[in-house]
Amino acid sequence: MGRSGIFAGDDPFALARAWLAEAEGTEPNDPNAIALATVDAAGLPNVRMVLLKEIEDDGFVFYTNYDSQKGQEIAATGKAAFVLHWKSLRRQIRVRGTTSREEGPQADAYFASRNLKSRIGAWASRQSQPLTSREALMAEAAKVALSRGPNPPRPPFWGGIRIAPVEIEFWADGAFRLHDRFRWRRAGPGSPWTVERLNP
Ligand SMILES: Cc1cc2nc3c(=O)[nH]c(=O)nc-3n(C[C@H](O)[C@H](O)[C@H](O)COP(=O)(O)O)c2cc1C
Repeated sequence: MGRSGIFAGDDPFALARAWLAEAEGTEPNDPNAIALATVDAAGLPNVRMVLLKEIEDDGFVFYTNYDSQKGQEIAATGKAAFVLHWKSLRRQIRVRGTTSREEGPQADAYFASRNLKSRIGAWASRQSQPLTSREALMAEAAKVALSRGPNPPRPPFWGGIRIAPVEIEFWADGAFRLHDRFRWRRAGPGSPWTVERLNP
């Protein structure tokens, strides 16, 4: 099927890690930024950037507030999609799949690794809810800093979302818009992948 060079290999997660590692050397910032898509109850799509924190052996993990707009949409549908795009490499990776929460020790460890101000911010922000003023948020953060102390635990409403993909597409820019695309698909987690080259 002619999959070689940057597209070679039998493990799409290893391939994604390799591309991301390359992007870490070429992107000016946030090579792990993904545009995360969800749909609301009316089927209207929604998209925003988040940071991809782990590429595991069978999933992609980012962290967020479970009560946020995205958190609620994911809770309702159990589905999400994202795209990673690197201008410096002229490549993208697209992922679609089903979601589950990572709210165990892995989420605790990641939360604990964050800067204290970010941990306080996670407690203080009712993400995606209306806010009367910046001052109100700062006051809430100051209150949290006092009440939670120097080692705040992970908030119960904040943690990881793992996307178990059923589809992953690797795309690389080609001359004259004749880009290379390979789509990996499977029936569900644990099923074998089939890979097809797609027209650009
Ligand atoms: C580069 C970048 C990275 C971001 N990373 C995250 C993230 O990892 N988690 C998160 O909850 N929001 C992150 N945000 C903020 C989100 O884009 C968004 O504003 C927020 O999560 C609320 O989205 P929602 O109302 O659709 O839930 C990031 C924004 C940018 C621009």
